Amino acid sequence: MSIIINVLTLFPAIFYNFLSESIPAIAQSKGEMQLNLIDIRDFSNDKNRQVDDYPYGGGPGMVIKPEPIAEALKFINNKTQQEQQDQIVYFTPQGRLLNQNIIKEYSHNSEITLICGHYKEIDQRIRDRYVTDEISIGDYVLSGGELPAMIFIDAISRLLDGVLSDSDSAKTDSHENSLLGCPHYTRPYEFENMTVPEVLISGNHKNINKWRNKKAIELTKKIRPDILEKK
Ligand code: ADE
Repeated sequence: MSIIINVLTLFPAIFYNFLSESIPAIAQSKGEMQLNLIDIRDFSNDKNRQVDDYPYGGGPGMVIKPEPIAEALKFINNKTQQEQQDQIVYFTPQGRLLNQNIIKEYSHNSEITLICGHYKEIDQRIRDRYVTDEISIGDYVLSGGELPAMIFIDAISRLLDGVLSDSDSAKTDSHENSLLGCPHYTRPYEFENMTVPEVLISGNHKNINKWRNKKAIELTKKIRPDILEKK
């Protein structure tokens, strides 16, 4: 099943290079992913296309006004002839932490709308009325939701049918099976006095798989014991 992703942003140009390269570009060219970039400013009712304003109660930073975002969401609904979109994700450091399971769940949707804030936040009433999920990509603050949206789109695009070839199948990725991935090697056999583990050139696939699994468990125990405990 293919997916439509609508992105509401003040900076659509940030997405251009990202969407025209690598896996997101393949997902689009295979018809598995359709991206609609929507400039929130196009829905401003201000002659200078201003979309932000000072926060009620004072304080630093600007807040994105509710009307342009609501109008942009209505524009999408008219296009898809939907009453209301099923999934509207807002990226914010206040959201739940993104992980591979969340990506997998979203990859099965037919249409998702992503809202990228900028400056301080967006008006709370958009979050209360329209947003169905709030996602953070980590405990740090970015200048906007564009990078989180690109991370989200990239991670989804590689799970869509037929996008990855067998050789780089998502099945062997870190975080599949709640483990980090194992170490990888390619030619040359010897590099700066370091050689490739013998098992990998043995041709014995049972032993290779065993070794890879053991290494993945060792690495996960050392670096991310928290995900191993969950498993
Ligand atoms: N916007 C700003 N910082 C963010 C973060 N860490 N995650 C998601 N959206 C954000």
